[in-house]
Amino acid sequence: MSSAWTPSSWREKPAGQQPEWPDAGALDRALKTLASYPPLVFAGEARNLMAALGRVADGKAFLLQAGDCAESFDHFSANAIRDKLKVILQMAAVLTYSSGVPLVKVGRIAGQYGKPRSAPTETIGDLVLPSFRGHIVNDIAPTLDARQPDPDRLITAYHQSAATLNLVRAFTMGGFADLSRVHAWNQEFVASSAQGQRYEVIADEIERAMRFMQACGIDLQTEVQLHQVDFYTSHEALILGYEEALTRQDTITGDWYDCSAHMVWIGERTRELDGAHIEFHRGIKNPIGCKVGPSITPNELVDLCETLNPERIAGRLTLIARMGAGAVEEKLRPLLAAVRESGHPVVWACDPMHGNTFTSSTGHKTREFDDVLAEIHGFFAAHRAEGTWPGGVHIELTGDDVTECLGGSEKILDADLAERYETMCDPRLNGRQGVDLAFQLAELLRA
Ligand code: PEP
Ligand code: CO
Repeated sequence: MSSAWTPSSWREKPAGQQPEWPDAGALDRALKTLASYPPLVFAGEARNLMAALGRVADGKAFLLQAGDCAESFDHFSANAIRDKLKVILQMAAVLTYSSGVPLVKVGRIAGQYGKPRSAPTETIGDLVLPSFRGHIVNDIAPTLDARQPDPDRLITAYHQSAATLNLVRAFTMGGFADLSRVHAWNQEFVASSAQGQRYEVIADEIERAMRFMQACGIDLQTEVQLHQVDFYTSHEALILGYEEALTRQDTITGDWYDCSAHMVWIGERTRELDGAHIEFHRGIKNPIGCKVGPSITPNELVDLCETLNPERIAGRLTLIARMGAGAVEEKLRPLLAAVRESGHPVVWACDPMHGNTFTSSTGHKTREFDDVLAEIHGFFAAHRAEGTWPGGVHIELTGDDVTECLGGSEKILDADLAERYETMCDPRLNGRQGVDLAFQLAELLRA
């Protein structure tokens, strides 16, 4: 690991989950084109996020990272982006109030197009097809043609990320994120939710806090802090050629930043210490994440921290635990203790989605809202026991009214799943389930 890092040094290491591009010349042309394009984000923004995450690592702020499992090239519209952002802002408002600390808001958005798969092929009927790897690689349709990796998709991913980011910037800076509006949406949710009354107390308290600010002379309509939000982008940096092409040297510091997003993370399936994904991430200066599942040992985890954050910069590394509701307390506690003992400053975030996936009686990949909540409970309990800071949550959701996860206050049942099951990969909470989760989490934070 001590050899020199360059944006392409990952090529010397075994790289898991990479597509078999059929035409090397076409891939090379696409990567050269990407390398000539402007960066999507600016290194200074990534540094701002790093500082904000440093405050999370210090126990003085909370991280909400949320968005699609896999963004789609087909389902791409202003309304879909707006509605996803709306849910995240609603959740953030509730969590800011209940945690009493600043919320760091990061979307799984504007680049979340590549998916790791458990097998390189899948069998549909009597066809053996290359697995769907996300729209940055191939299409989901079950034909050999659609599943052929196509390097032009790398270019499309760039353009779609740029357009998404542009709209996100406009929404978060142009008044859409105004706290009074976000609060009004939450009041609407409470008024129309089956379990609404349960959340009325919290919504009323927020209302009173806002009236108090107003009475103190703060103009809720014009105060920049209440009118605009810092919103950052993130995705799993899976397809390394794409990430390399967008990795640029910052003219101010001379450091290398992956300018495809503010934050990028390493997935559970590609976190081998001597693998290409760790090699790539160790050299970029962005804030980075790494998923950690139940198979990791305390020693491995400390080695991972040492490799990815040797300078021990707070905010550099977010560990995203995805243990499963049943295992979280038992698995997490020794890991929390080991990292604490090592002195590594990390953000601990809870991904309560990926350890709780199962197949429903109707054959849909799904998750129970109550399991998601139970994993968050276990995550908090483990941190309380170890004296560490439960830094945040990492959620798969959409603003659309889908039926992919079971339960929640609308009580989605097995039989409802087929109605609007639209995800290309993992099941997402719908907009109402997302806000519902934030209110339940608020209750947990108060207790
Ligand atoms: C994901 O976040 O969609 C994902 C594939 O997660 P993990 O790497 O934790 O399995
Ligand atoms: Co997922």
